[in-house]
Amino acid sequence: MNKVAVVTGATSGIGRANVELLLKDNIDVIGLARSEKRAEELKISFSDLETSAKLHIVMGDLSSNQKSKDALKNIQYVLNKHYQGRLDILMNIAGIVSSGLHVNEDGNELTFATNHLSVFILTLGLVSYLEKSTNPRILVVSSLSHYRASINFNNLQNKKCYNILKAYKRSKLYNVFFVKAFARKYPHLPIFAIDPGLVKTEIGLKNTSKLAGKIWLWRVSKGTDAIYPASFMAKIAIDQDYVTQTGLYFKEGIPKKSNPITYNETYQERLWDITKELVKS
Ligand SMILES: NC(=O)c1ccc[n+]([C@@H]2O[C@H](COP(=O)([O-])OP(=O)(O)OC[C@H]3O[C@@H](n4cnc5c(N)ncnc54)[C@H](OP(=O)(O)O)[C@@H]3O)[C@@H](O)[C@H]2O)c1
Repeated sequence: MNKVAVVTGATSGIGRANVELLLKDNIDVIGLARSEKRAEELKISFSDLETSAKLHIVMGDLSSNQKSKDALKNIQYVLNKHYQGRLDILMNIAGIVSSGLHVNEDGNELTFATNHLSVFILTLGLVSYLEKSTNPRILVVSSLSHYRASINFNNLQNKKCYNILKAYKRSKLYNVFFVKAFARKYPHLPIFAIDPGLVKTEIGLKNTSKLAGKIWLWRVSKGTDAIYPASFMAKIAIDQDYVTQTGLYFKEGIPKKSNPITYNETYQERLWDITKELVKS
């Protein structure tokens, strides 16, 4: 039986490139999509691929607790139906950058909810599935921008004085805190924070102002194609060499020191506990 991977953000950019490489490696993929149109486009674009692997597309939105839990249920349904409840690879890739403060139905800021809370909900909700794999891997896409972020427990969600870049960088910092805390709590489930570098995708055009979109287009013209980070992400997801490097931050397939504050276990635990409370609603 083929290995099976769950990929969030499968419909675009880095996620889509990972779906392609996993399928080419004959790994079945459960790709999460939030829009029917993009789901259909994804299905069509890979329909001629030479592979023995199957692409399942599951609908789900990661912008709130309930929506993330519904997406999780949809994923679990496919894993139970086709893979006896086993998951080999989880790639948390979906993410946003957002101009202006948007608060979701739980009262959580949208970037924080999509980029951080949903990762917590999906990963914890899939632990028992990953435990059935003989070689499980979890990847969480962070960003170089996390180095320029700080943590302020009194303004964790940036609701006071919201700023697009601050909210994004902090959400990517929380991804690294999550990876480190998870690695300690679940040492048998290797997990990695991924820095994909600057990548030519549409992320800066989707929930942003005209000005932010223009700045993104200018910046990203110097970026790589999405297949570049996907190639080293696929290695981390598959090669045996990485198993002992759980909890680390990787750039171009090589472990790098993350922001010094991410090593602070008190902060890791505090963020974990707050997140656990926030996802209860
Ligand atoms: N591009 C870069 O230079 C760069 C650098 C560092 C880190 N990253 C990180 O890489 C990850 C992927 O970003 P990208 O650059 O590939 O951007 P992208 O092309 O916009 O892809 C983002 C993916 O996330 C999905 N998504 C967004 N909100 C969602 C929601 N509420 N529910 C479910 N899915 C949702 C999008 O769905 P739709 O297709 O429907 O929009 C899309 O598939 C993000 O976590 C980002 O922070 C990117």
